[in-house]
Amino acid sequence: MRAVLVANPKGGAGKTTLATNLSGHFANQRKRTTLCDLDRQQSALRWMAFRDPGMAPVTGYYAGNQISASLPREADWVVVDAPAGLQGYKLTDYLRAVDKVVIPLVPSVFDMAATEDFLNSIRSELRGQRTKVGIVAMRVDPRTRAASMLEEFIKHFDIPIVAYLRSTQNYVNVAAAGATVFDPPHARHRRDVGQWSSLVEWLNK
Ligand SMILES: Nc1ncnc2c1ncn2[C@@H]1O[C@H](COP(=O)(O)OP(=O)(O)OP(=O)(O)O)[C@@H](O)[C@H]1O
Ligand SMILES: [Mg+2]
Repeated sequence: MRAVLVANPKGGAGKTTLATNLSGHFANQRKRTTLCDLDRQQSALRWMAFRDPGMAPVTGYYAGNQISASLPREADWVVVDAPAGLQGYKLTDYLRAVDKVVIPLVPSVFDMAATEDFLNSIRSELRGQRTKVGIVAMRVDPRTRAASMLEEFIKHFDIPIVAYLRSTQNYVNVAAAGATVFDPPHARHRRDVGQWSSLVEWLNK
């Protein structure tokens, strides 16, 4: 079993979008995939409830009240969708339980300011540990002013940017159907799927 935590204390950064699409990716790769929802709002589980039974299967559960992080061993991949504001002992528990941490980050001054302390605490908690952390630049095209602003900000933390995902209604539309850009029909989402390859490669390392 391998596990990835998707976290950012800022609301609306794209955690559930990343977590559901990653689950869709692994499921379509025929991996036994479990989505662990830590959010009281249970957006990830709501998404799962819309999922067509004919699609690649993703199982899931709500773990919001769990004190210590015990993840299902029988899965190939567990994707953990954190709520806004995850911090303290609960964050520490989950950092210990996963192999990778993915932080979606929108290049706005508000989002970057709200994420700064979190990036510092993650970096110090993970110093010398096997758990790796990467940033996904959310709603941004590489080689834009927004992208350079984000890169400049990230330099201070020594955390790699592992993917750039553009802003597109495709994510909104697929989510409404319990789907992901990795589910058929594929032709419609080819450009978006391509943007995930560096993230997927980093996760599989
Ligand atoms: N790349 C994108 N392009 C366009 N819309 C996006 C993109 N990523 C996320 N969104 C939209 O932004 C909104 C917030 O995203 P999401 O729910 O994934 O964030 P979140 O971090 O899980 O929020 P919360 O902190 O409330 O749990 C959603 O409506 C989602 O569809
Ligand atoms: Mg969410």
